[in-house]
Amino acid sequence: MSVRHMMNFKDWSGQELRQILDLAIKVKGNQKDYWQALDHLTLGMIFQKTSTRTRVSFEVAMTQLGGHAIYLDWRSTNLVLAELKDEVRFLARNVDILMARVLTFEQVQEMAEYSRVPVINGCDNCYHPTQALADFQTILEHKGRLEGINLVYVGIHNNVANSLLEGGTKLGMKLTMVTPEVNQASLNPELIKAAEQSGLYEHTLDIKAAVADADVVYTDAWIDMEFFLDPKFADEKQRRIDKMIPYQLNEELLKGSKALIMHDMPIHTGYEISRGVIESPYSIIFDQAENRLHAEKAVLLTLLGRN
Ligand code: CP
Repeated sequence: MSVRHMMNFKDWSGQELRQILDLAIKVKGNQKDYWQALDHLTLGMIFQKTSTRTRVSFEVAMTQLGGHAIYLDWRSTNLVLAELKDEVRFLARNVDILMARVLTFEQVQEMAEYSRVPVINGCDNCYHPTQALADFQTILEHKGRLEGINLVYVGIHNNVANSLLEGGTKLGMKLTMVTPEVNQASLNPELIKAAEQSGLYEHTLDIKAAVADADVVYTDAWIDMEFFLDPKFADEKQRRIDKMIPYQLNEELLKGSKALIMHDMPIHTGYEISRGVIESPYSIIFDQAENRLHAEKAVLLTLLGRN
């Protein structure tokens, strides 16, 4: 029997994604009913990059589902020395499911190829599916629907933008991308073509008009986490700040708007978003961050056949 993974949303239908979201909301409202759902099962969590939310939420999810999670830091395990496919084949003979935050999508694909247990993409250069699921759950909870909701993404077109676009269009949302720049490592013409064919995708640089028509305004960091503090990236960081500052979410831009405000965190206050907008009554950023836990529980239950 073939193993199902969640590397991105390519092989997941809109109906399947909606089932995961409905399960996430059900589990969130009935947490005690799932305390033994993953009894004696173990999640292996590989981190090649830094994380607060992804690490904590997956680890807590396994605890609250009656299972266990093992944190595997790339640099302090033999992942740093050996070939990934061999380390993964060993891991899959011990743990029941794997989650990996690695540098590239090709590494996630290699893991899935060699793993006999499900592999979840915990964010790479191209995709961040568990973030997007938590985002869709949060919108569903606040708006009561996803179909027809206009999500305006403002920032650099990156891995998060790809997953919002890939999943959101399958769920019937409208995705308006205000993205003056694309992270070259996240570039995926096939994904953009599919979004165009859905008729639910628009690209514009008219941020004022886009925000005026938005149900949700979403932003993300302008610089990937692995480069943010890297002195070698300083010139590129400054170039991006100069280019992107007109696209900051701030009180002036959002004056009169009733759109919900989202950010996947970590936040770089004063760059992509102002403190006033983070704290505004329309901000659902911390509901969104909390839902990583609930959405990931639904993914774990689904991939392990306990849904
Ligand atoms: N949004 C997100 O993935 O957060 P972390 O990088 O802290 O895991």
